[in-house]
Order: sequence, then structure tokens, then C-alpha cells
Amino acid sequence: MRYYLGLATTFHDPALALIGPDGGVLFAEGAERVLQYKRAPNCEPDPAGRMVGLLEKYVPRGSEIVVASSWGAQFSEFLRGQERSGAFDLMALAGHPTTLNRSFVPERAERIFIADLALAQARAGYGTLLALNQETRGTGQPARAEIVAQHRFPHHLAHAAYALWGSPFREATALIVDGMGETGAAAIYALRDGRIAEVRRQRGRGSVGFLYGLVTDLAGFDQIKGEEWKIMGLAPYGRPDPELMGLLRRLYAVENGRLRFADDATVQAVAAEILARRPAEAPESGWADLARSGQEIFCELMDVLVAEAHALGPHENLVIAGGCGLNSSYNGRVLGRSPFSRLHVPSAPGDDGNAIGAAWLAYAEDHPDWTGPAPEARPLSPYLGSRVSTEPMERLAEQEPRARRLGHEGVTREAARILSEGGLVGWVQGRAEFGPRALGNRSILADPRPAGAKDALNAKVKYREGFRPFAPSILAEAGPDWFEDYADSPYMERTLVWRDSVRARVPAVVHADGTGRLQSVTQARNPAYAGLIAAFAEITGVPILLNTSFNVMGKPILHSAEDAILMFYTTGLDALVVEDWIVVK
Ligand SMILES: [Fe+2]
Repeated sequence: MRYYLGLATTFHDPALALIGPDGGVLFAEGAERVLQYKRAPNCEPDPAGRMVGLLEKYVPRGSEIVVASSWGAQFSEFLRGQERSGAFDLMALAGHPTTLNRSFVPERAERIFIADLALAQARAGYGTLLALNQETRGTGQPARAEIVAQHRFPHHLAHAAYALWGSPFREATALIVDGMGETGAAAIYALRDGRIAEVRRQRGRGSVGFLYGLVTDLAGFDQIKGEEWKIMGLAPYGRPDPELMGLLRRLYAVENGRLRFADDATVQAVAAEILARRPAEAPESGWADLARSGQEIFCELMDVLVAEAHALGPHENLVIAGGCGLNSSYNGRVLGRSPFSRLHVPSAPGDDGNAIGAAWLAYAEDHPDWTGPAPEARPLSPYLGSRVSTEPMERLAEQEPRARRLGHEGVTREAARILSEGGLVGWVQGRAEFGPRALGNRSILADPRPAGAKDALNAKVKYREGFRPFAPSILAEAGPDWFEDYADSPYMERTLVWRDSVRARVPAVVHADGTGRLQSVTQARNPAYAGLIAAFAEITGVPILLNTSFNVMGKPILHSAEDAILMFYTTGLDALVVEDWIVVK
């Protein structure tokens, strides 16, 4: 039996994935979860000890393991070529700290931008496996799992493999846009008959992802913490400022339908000019006009790339991945702005998703006839991570009479009632979501109807900036009644416009620009969550819940029932549901 261990080995969002002998995804999870360290910068993808449990659970003793990682050999050359580097270039930032884009931002200047990516590569995770095998040497037992091959795949190809093979499409064009791959920051791939081919790879240091990162830092946030989100959230509160837009447009040009980025000196000059205009309160509260202008520029840049993708691989199905695929605001608009008619963005378009991509590429090499997972396994479920044990709830119940095991129906009914009365519920079910968004298995839920629900949630639990919107989960069949141009959005990957007539009914999940980053929930994808929303709808007539990730500010989504109980008692949550257990205050 042969298994495939995929490792995402960028210095941020390291992750691992296990693919079984039939090509199915057995497990996928970011290292941040088990470490409880957001984005796990500079950590290896398999924190010590975790591999033992995973092997025990998924891989029979004596199996073969193929290890695949998400950066190609070219990457090492790239690291060595730092003298070729420039201002948008991640590698450059290590070699030339004075031209580091964040050094333009005073409050960040003291921080080192880059973790040692090469180090993360070297630690690429299978150390635990080797150690386990060592234990069986000389005992006469078979090796725990023998590593029979190691592969490295180009970074953008790994993005494309995960996104395309995880999509519902047999034929599609994939646009990969991120901070940086081995040779550039964007690439186009085609899926035909289930096989993936490179169409074009952007070369050079220009990067839409870094440009957005630069805007993030200049607006008062921190791209290394993944605060690009905040730009999207803040943008609707600002106006597209012609001066700022003009300055940002000096950072690139469109020539013959392709992007060309400015040289270092121009980037430095533009950054300095933008900073000179920055309001004093920006580092505290953000700079809405720059956020809005930056988001507009991002859309313009993406439009150029999407148009190129369509010209080179004309097809109605578009797949977007790479970190820029997290821009749900653009994702929601792309179909209206391009000739594509269907869109898939996976649950983990960032570098964590490459753990699955690399493992699938290794699987495809061993199985030349394989053309992706079985149709019933597509689009790929986001529920690929760890389960939590209910044992901590049992222990809690020994001292806390309000902790009870009510069964799934019982907790669903009780949670729906508490939500309909304005309570905040922590909701933990089944396997953790793969990717940054809570999709109803590690979520904090609230009633979307009270106008004050957002502020209450911020004050009691999330403690985050008031401008950031909360997202709605909606029963898929009700989608068209509530959203304009409704499109299925299983992973909260796109932002759509609420119908005018319904906005006053669910003010807590309507953003300042009238949009919502929705999750379409179906019985088939998530029966427990669909059941809860249906129970809430029965009481209230509204098939929608406010859904935000089960974490507190600065922490990743929780990983264990202990984490959940801790948050329950240290925040203003009114109830906590873990599988078929509930505890109320
Ligand atoms: Fe990437």
C-alpha cells in the first residue's frame, strides 16, 4: 500500500496532507492549528509528534510513503540569486533590508520580514517518519512506513493541482496569483480531460500579491500577519482617491495585455509619497481611502490576468488559486467582469493548499491514468482536518451540571433556540476546515437579525476592528432569494450583493457596501450545520446565521475541546456545543 504525504513548506502557512492509495484526501491541516500559532511562520509542516498519530490512524504498518513538497528545485537557485532581487521580491527582502518595502512603514521598520524559507525546506517534515522507522531497525518488525520516493514540485503547479483537481470541472483554466513562485508571481494552467498543463508562467519580480501586501502595510496593517483581509474589510468605508490611485498606477503598466511592474526606485518613491500623505491615525485605525484605492487597483490588475487567462485558454470555467484567491471581494465580481461563466476557488487557495497539490502531483506521477478524484469527491470537501475529543466535555460535566449530552438533535434544537434569542454559540462539529475560513465546524454563531449583533460579538468575544464584516452562512436553496446574481459559494470564497429588500432583515451580516461573504450550506456538504440553520429558520423565518471563526483575535481557529472550553469561559459566549454535548452559562 502506498500513501502520499504532501508538505506545504513556505515560511508561512505550513501544512501537511495525506493522500490514500485511491487518490482520495485522507487528511489535510495547517500546522497553525495544532501549534495554536497563527499562520505558524517559520515552522515545519509536521510539528513533532503529530505524524505518529496520523500514521496510526491512516497508514497501515509496513506501507510505503512518497513525500512531496511544494517548491521546485528551481527555488534553491532562486534563493542563491538574491543579487537579481528587487523591491517586490520576497527573496530580496532578506538580502537588502534597506529596500524592504516594510521599511517604508516606520512602525514595522525594526522587524525582519522574511523567515528562512530555505530552512523550512530543509526541515520539510519527514524527520519524524525517519525517526519512527529507526525504532523498528533490528527488531525484525517492518518499518513503520518506508519512504520510497521524495519529490519537489513547482510552487504554482502545486497550487493549480489542488485547485483544479479539487474543482467540480473536467475542463478549466486556472489562474494562480500569489506573492511569489520560483520564477514569478502568476501562472496559467489548463485542465483538459483531467490532465494539467502549464500554459504560461509569468517571469520576473513583479507581483500582484506583494503590491497588495505593500498597500496593506502602508494602510497601517501587517501583511506578515495575513492582514490583507483588513484591506478588503476597510475598503468600503473609503473612497477611491484619484491621487492615491494615480500613485499606485505608477507601480505597473499594461503592455500588450500583460503586466509589467515598476523598478525598485519607483516603488520606493511611490511608497514614500503615499506615506507622506498618510493620516496620523492610520496605524491605529487603518487608512480607508488607501484600502479602497488599493482594492480597486487590485481588481484592475486581476482583470488583466483573468483576460490573459481567457485569451490563452478560452474556456467557460475559471479556477483561481494562490494567496490572491483569498480576495473574496474580487472573486464575487470576476464573472461579471470577464467572459468566464463559472468560478471555483478552493477552501485553501493560499500556500497551505499546496500540501494537497504536491501530494496529488506525486500520486499522478505514479498513476498515469488518474485524472483526479472521483466525481462524488468533487468539489473537494473542506472538512479534512482533525476531530476533537468529547472527553473534556465529559470531564467538565462531572463538575458542571449545565454541561449535558443531549444527542445531535437535542443540541441542534437547543443551539437554535439560544441563537434565536440573541445568544452567542460556539459550535464544534466533525472535522476541522482546511483553509482559513470556519465553515460551520469550528464556528462562533450568532443571530444575524439584530443591528447590534456585530458590535456585541466584537465586544464579547472577537475583540476585532469594528469595520471588519461578519459573514453569513445561508441554506443554498434560499440563496437566490437573498442575493443578487446568486452563485453557489461553498467555501466563503466570494462576496455577493444582498438584495435591497432583505438588507434590513439581517443587518449584522450586511457590509457597508451592501455585500456579504457568504457560505452556501447544503445537507450533503454539512448535515449538522445545515440542520442547525434549518432549525433556526423554523423559529425565525431566516435561513441564515452569522458565522465567524472560533478563535479570539490573534489566534488561529481552535484545535481541541479544551481550547473551546477555555474560550467559552473567558469570553462572552452563551453556549458551547461540542459534537452532541452542550454547556450553557
Ligand atoms: Fe503561493
